[in-house]
Amino acid sequence: MKKLLALSLALATVAGGVTFAGGKSDSAPKASEKKLITVGYAQVGAESDWRTANTESFKSTFTEANGYKLIFDDAQQKQENQIKAIRNFIQQDVDYIVVAPVVETGWETVLSEAKAAGIPVILSDRQMKLADESLYTCWVGGNFLKEGQDAVLWLNTYVEKNGLKDKDLNVVILQGTIGSSAQVGRTQGELEGLAKNPRYKVLAKQTGEFTQAKGQEVMESFLKAYPKIDVVFAENDNMAFGAIDAIKAVGKKPGKDIIIISFDAVHEAFNRMIAGEINADVECNPLHGPRVAEIIQKLEAGQAVEKIQYVKEDVFDTANAKEMLPTRKY
Ligand code: AHR
Repeated sequence: MKKLLALSLALATVAGGVTFAGGKSDSAPKASEKKLITVGYAQVGAESDWRTANTESFKSTFTEANGYKLIFDDAQQKQENQIKAIRNFIQQDVDYIVVAPVVETGWETVLSEAKAAGIPVILSDRQMKLADESLYTCWVGGNFLKEGQDAVLWLNTYVEKNGLKDKDLNVVILQGTIGSSAQVGRTQGELEGLAKNPRYKVLAKQTGEFTQAKGQEVMESFLKAYPKIDVVFAENDNMAFGAIDAIKAVGKKPGKDIIIISFDAVHEAFNRMIAGEINADVECNPLHGPRVAEIIQKLEAGQAVEKIQYVKEDVFDTANAKEMLPTRKY
């Protein structure tokens, strides 16, 4: 059956999207008689508040009451664990595989196995770099390159408004997991944007693995190596929280002595902006469960889905954090 569906999927490619035949019968079963759609989700891990919100979004969407059976796997930030999980999903003959890939490369073999088994693969959150784009049905997530660019645009405006235009500003970057599309896009956006202003000097960049503990550790080493740091780009909120602790430990004021620009915009980051410890936060929306469910429902109905689906994201700062916090969902 799945092989047939996969063939329909391949044949039904339409401009800018694909269709997937759902194999509906003429006499539709009652809701109570409908077979659950089995979805295997290969999650990155539990490294951050963002990730927790993402997991919760999937778990609360893919419930039996909503017509799904979710098989959830936490890969503990290791690609080999995700590959194992995908192979398990194939063995269990799930209806759909969803992957938030830890890193961009190295997926061809396992995705070819999913394709041969006729199981559609939906990518969510991070992207993959694949020579053969037919190995996945579609992707939904944030535009990481734009997020990096937006972070620098916010800094440019801040510098202008606060009369810092003629000052040299020393910058350090706490990067995410190296090789993840979240890191690759954000770092590229930051470095390209910063390079446009000769007053910005990038002193160092190093991974903090998207975790608070590692973010703190790397920031401590930056503070030891560089006596004058003016700006920190933390490529997620948890690393920013770690950096704040490191900055306080050397008697400096985060957000005042050192400008902190972060990514994700989770609840706690809003509290930190209200407290003046984080200056600005570029949103990365984790609530992909309902988005992936919508994609699956379209595929089940034989409808087209866009191959690449970017989610709209904003930038927040100390000026609007208090007003925005009650509207935030994660
Ligand atoms: O891929 C999204 C990133 O992964 C988020 O910025 C980070 O918090 C998470 O761990």
